[in-house]
Order: sequence, then C-alpha cells, then structure tokens
Amino acid sequence: MALRKENILIVDDDIDILELLHRHLKAMDYHTYKAVSVKEALFVLKDSYIDLLITDIQMPEIDGLQLMKFANEHYPEIPKLVVTGYPSVDGALEVMKAGAVDYLSKPFTKDELKQCIEKAFAKGSLRRKERPIARNIKADCQGDMVGESEAFGAVINLIDRVKDNKATVIIKGESGTGKELVARAIHYSGKFSRAPFIAVNCGAIPENLQEAELFGYTKGAFTGANENRNGFFQAAEGGTLFLDEIGSASLAVQTKLLRALQEKEITKVGSQKAKKVDIRIIAATNANLLEDIKNKSFREDLYYRLTVVEINVPPLRNRKSDIPLLAAKFLRKYGVEYKDRLLRISPEALQVLERYSWPGNIRELENIIQRSVIMSDGMIEVKDLPDFLKFQIEFPDADFLPLREMEKEYVRRVLIHTQGNKTTAAKILQIDRKTLRNKLD
Ligand SMILES: Nc1ncnc2c1ncn2[C@@H]1O[C@H](COP(=O)(O)OP(=O)(O)OP(=O)(O)O)[C@@H](O)[C@H]1O
Ligand SMILES: [Mg+2]
Repeated sequence: MALRKENILIVDDDIDILELLHRHLKAMDYHTYKAVSVKEALFVLKDSYIDLLITDIQMPEIDGLQLMKFANEHYPEIPKLVVTGYPSVDGALEVMKAGAVDYLSKPFTKDELKQCIEKAFAKGSLRRKERPIARNIKADCQGDMVGESEAFGAVINLIDRVKDNKATVIIKGESGTGKELVARAIHYSGKFSRAPFIAVNCGAIPENLQEAELFGYTKGAFTGANENRNGFFQAAEGGTLFLDEIGSASLAVQTKLLRALQEKEITKVGSQKAKKVDIRIIAATNANLLEDIKNKSFREDLYYRLTVVEINVPPLRNRKSDIPLLAAKFLRKYGVEYKDRLLRISPEALQVLERYSWPGNIRELENIIQRSVIMSDGMIEVKDLPDFLKFQIEFPDADFLPLREMEKEYVRRVLIHTQGNKTTAAKILQIDRKTLRNKLD
C-alpha cells in the first residue's frame, strides 16, 4: 500500500551522480526533485515542500556551501546532507559548520546513503509534524497538491475538517478540477491513511456488473460466478472507498449503497447474510445529480445520505491565481521527465496561460505544459504554446459581446502583441494593411 513519501531535493551538477541518487532514493521509496545547479535548487525550494536537501559542494557558478547558507537562513528546519568528492578533515569541518547533519564522500554505497538519510530525518522529525496541510497532501504519492487562491484554501479547509472522521463526503466539480486528488488528500492526510484507499470509477463498470464488483458475490449467484468473491467494499475495510462518477451507479447499486450508509452493512450478491463494514465513503461527480433525481435515475434519499459534507472544487477559471504554482509544478514534473532538468516559463507565456479560461481545468493545463516542455528548447516561451492559446480572447461567461466589439477587441490584442507593428498585425489577421487601417479608423 502506498504511504506518505518524503520529498528529497538532490543537487549535483554531475548528472550521473544525480541519477544514481535518484535511483537509490526511489528504491527507498522517497520522492525526489533533481536540480543540476544551485539556481534550479532555489527554484524548487521555493515552490515545493522539501523534507531533506542533499547537495554536492563543488559546482560551477554558485557552490553547495552557498546553497547551504541560503537554506539555513530561509529553511532552517530542512535537514541538509552533503555529498562531496573531496573528503578532507578541514572540508568536513566546514560542511558541518555550514549546518549539514552529515556528509557522504563519493563513492558511497546505498547503505551509507540510507544511514545518512535516516540520521537526517531523525533530527528533522520535529518539523515534519508541523507540515501545513496544503503542501502535505500526497496524491497517492504522485506529488503535492498546490494552490494559493482563496477558493483553493476553502477546499483545503474542508479536507482538514473531514480527514480524521468517517463522515460521508461528496466532491463536486467540473472535469479535471482535481476531485480525485481531493479524495486522496482526505484519505492520505488523515488518521486512517494507513488503511486502504480504494478508488472505483462507477462509469467504467458496466451496469450489470457493478453490484458484484462493489459488494462481492457468492458461488452460483449468477452464471459465471464459480467462486465466492469479495467486492471493493471489503477491500476498503477500515479505510476509504472512493466512488467516482457516482451518477453512473446503477439503481441496484444505489439501493445497496443506501443500506450500507444507513446500516453500515452489506450483503454479497446471492447472499442473505449481512456483513458489518467500517468504511468512509467519498463520492465524486461532475454531473448534476439534482437533474438525475428529477428524471428518476438517481435516488433522492441516497443523495441526501451522500451529501453530509459537500466539497465543491472550483473550476480553474475561478481561481486563476493558482495558475503560476500549478504551472511551476507541472514544469518541474515534465522538465525532469523529458529534459532531465527544471524548466522555466517566461512571464509573457505565463500571462497567456492566465488569460485562458481552461474549460478542461487543471488536467488541460497539465497537458498544455507537458506539450510545451516537449516543444521548448529551454525556457517556455509564448511560441511554444499552442496557437489557440496565443490569440485567445477572454470574455465573461455570460456577457457576450456584439461581433463588432469583439473584432475591435481582437484587433487591439493583436496590435499589443505586435507592439503596434501594423504590418505584422495584418499578417497575423490575414488581411491587407489597408483593411486593417480602415478597421482602425
Ligand atoms: N491542486 C492541484 N495541484 C496539483 N495538481 C492538481 C491539483 N488538482 C488537480 N491536479 C492534477 O490535475 C489532474 C486532474 O485531477 P483529477 O484527476 O483529480 O481531476 P477530476 O476532477 O477527478 O477529473 P474528472 O472529473 O475528469 O475525473 C491530475 O493530474 C491531478 O494530479
Ligand atoms: Mg476523476
């Protein structure tokens, strides 16, 4: 079962050492951030929640000792380890004085590394208890949930309130807003985090199989039921059952689910015997269940049972202040994955991202960044972004503009983009200069 991982930042200009450390740490089940220079390390420190810093000393430009100095000042709680190619008594002394918990001399074995890390964490354990929740959350160890908008803060607040009890929770939000991540966050940040988290996408199971998959079945319950089987409910015992796309649950499942919530017991398909279950249910939907209730495809009584606590995950367009942090997160993720380094985004490109309305929400943002990392040679520039983003015009959801106003606004934007150059603007708009001049008049 996946448990919480610690984030370790490794800094070395030697890619081989970086890779070696990464491999060892991954095998020890840590999550790593790699940086090939102090400059990149500072960027990671600022934007991520780092539990341990491991740095080389000798590096071009800024060296590891200066990084240590900076980290001691700004992140005194993070334990620091040093990897050095030139072990000497003086050097070691200097490193320890600079605030390192310990140092490793190259070449080192995996066991030596492990011992050093354990020592470092033993010293740093105080801090980890105080990790603020917004950055503490592990998405089944895929990375941190980030955000600093008020709307996101409200979600985090609710997660905090429900994480340690078994109240039923429903998570509502458009596609790609992070509903599943919220569900995982509730589970993994709470006190039942060591019990199982089972995610079931109701929309992905054919209606006629849902009941058997969720509640299990007895031998002979239906053709093909050759043995007794437990369902997902049983698998999640003691922990969390996440029912994604709850609107797709069959009516038979809805009836049984209601019973499970009311009586805290389930029966397998083909059995009369009820079995107690101790489980927290989190459901998610991007559909309007109230509509489904009206057309009788969703049980109203179940709806009210499920909505004990309701978490509405806001669409990205309503929390645009989260875009820089999210972009930084995905840049790190895909930079390291595809280019083996941390990439940045130019302020202009970031502005383009902030202007867009993101109908596909965070998932769409992630895809765009992934694509731009592949397209870019270093810094992500406006040119690396897809065309539809470069020339998009944003207008409020409800307030549509007359076509002529819209055209005016569009021409204005293009001119801002070309810094007033009418020839280039005319080219982009694919009209001749004269037409453009007429429009400007
Ligand atoms: N606050 C966040 N910080 C970082 N990454 C996030 C955040 N919220 C969502 N993501 C990422 O965005 C992607 C979409 O999130 P998720 O799958 O949880 O959305 P969803 O609401 O369940 O979407 P759908 O309705 O389509 O199933 C995932 O890759 C997730 O890791
Ligand atoms: Mg989902």
